[in-house]
Amino acid sequence: MLKAKKVFYCQNCGAQYDKWLGKCNSCNEWNTIVEEVVKKETKNDRLQLFTGHKNTAGKSNQPILLQDVGLQEFPRIAVPGKELTRVLGGGIVPGSLVLFGGEPGIGKSTLMLQLALRMKNLKVLYVSGEESEQQIKMRAERISITTDTCFILQETNTQNIFQQIMEIEPQLVIIDSIQTLHTAYVDSSPGSVSQVRECAAELLRFAKETNTPVFMIGHITKEGSLAGPKVLEHMVDTVLQFEGDRNHIYRLLRATKNRFGSTNEMGIYEMNGDGLREVTNPSEILITNRDSPTSGVAIAATMEGNRPMLIETQALVSSAAYGTPQRSSTGFDLRRLSMLLAVLEKRCGFRMGIKDVFINIAGGIRVEDPGIDLALVCGILSSNEDLPIPQDTCFAGEVGLTGEIRPVNRIEQRISEAEKLGFTKIIVSTHNLKGINVNSYKIKILHASKMEEVFSLLFG
Ligand code: TYD
Ligand code: MG
Repeated sequence: MLKAKKVFYCQNCGAQYDKWLGKCNSCNEWNTIVEEVVKKETKNDRLQLFTGHKNTAGKSNQPILLQDVGLQEFPRIAVPGKELTRVLGGGIVPGSLVLFGGEPGIGKSTLMLQLALRMKNLKVLYVSGEESEQQIKMRAERISITTDTCFILQETNTQNIFQQIMEIEPQLVIIDSIQTLHTAYVDSSPGSVSQVRECAAELLRFAKETNTPVFMIGHITKEGSLAGPKVLEHMVDTVLQFEGDRNHIYRLLRATKNRFGSTNEMGIYEMNGDGLREVTNPSEILITNRDSPTSGVAIAATMEGNRPMLIETQALVSSAAYGTPQRSSTGFDLRRLSMLLAVLEKRCGFRMGIKDVFINIAGGIRVEDPGIDLALVCGILSSNEDLPIPQDTCFAGEVGLTGEIRPVNRIEQRISEAEKLGFTKIIVSTHNLKGINVNSYKIKILHASKMEEVFSLLFG
């Protein structure tokens, strides 16, 4: 007989309690603690599948000297598409567990199905707990890639999934999604913390024991973090995030954790009628060609990971209609915007406190590079004064609290990208000039160390 054990979990952070509480002591959220019934394990209870904790007592690893550890390169499984390859750090590492998160409807299932269909020389098992086989077939027709090595399994019980896996012996497993799975060893409902955690642990054991890579799709909560406990992120080798604005066609793929590569890399996709297409020349798409310059528009030469990218920023400044001025920002951190406005007010004497300020980064893309600051500030000034910035000018610089323009990393790459796209002027921080040969570029490199200087460079 199995004894039912009652445990209370916070559905937000996964903290465990013995009794119900109104407020989670760990993440301070209210009403997130829910009772979950977990069966107590008995000795011979578990199937000796991957689901079972193998009895490892008695067999233990011996410590070995670090210098004696043989270093072998991870042999990677090549994936189709440059973007995914780069974000994964050069391909899929055998036996790795990858968590792929994103908001609903962003295109997670589409990207994973595309991956499954394109892996032509690999036996792939796509397990779906969300969609029927017919729905997946329809999606595959839409993407119009054919393959004869991709199996679809509609199943949510992990024991059944492992049963099928042992029969088919796939070389890559995709789970859509981890929140729909349930294991017989935990009684609580699918999607609850203990289920998600246990299912992921089973998949992890399977991946490590058989050296089969597993991708699990994970949902994202309203707040933008991966649903389920934080431990999920600790367990997996790689966490990929798919982000973007659902109303726009561009999607960004980032690695927020990667044990086998850099987390700086980023991939850009475009959602079309027939699936996701890689975007290899983002700068050309993210800048609108205008007949005449418009005030409030400034182009930033940014770096996303190791990739230079020119992005259009737009600002609109108008007199505040109500007592409290509004600040709204799409694709840029609102707190950072407030900071930039405070710098303009305090250091440059612009009265931003009585103005509404709206910011938009073109393409619905979220930029993390601080090198975008200078362009944004110039866009705000341009809109405030209603003076357009010349269309052939772009910016790369971070703005500090004292109003100084701070240097940014990889300035040469940014300058080269701007030059390649036909810009004739770029404004950078004076401190960035060290070590670069200004005369080797066709593009004119203007520099400033303070916000006031930029203003006179632009508008005379
Ligand atoms: P989906 O992959 O189902 O999102 P997720 O799994 O992250 O919830 O993608 C959903 C959206 O993508 C849906 O609104 C339709 C759109 N879409 C396209 O625009 N083109 C396509 O070829 C496909 C397959 C989907
Ligand atoms: Mg989906």
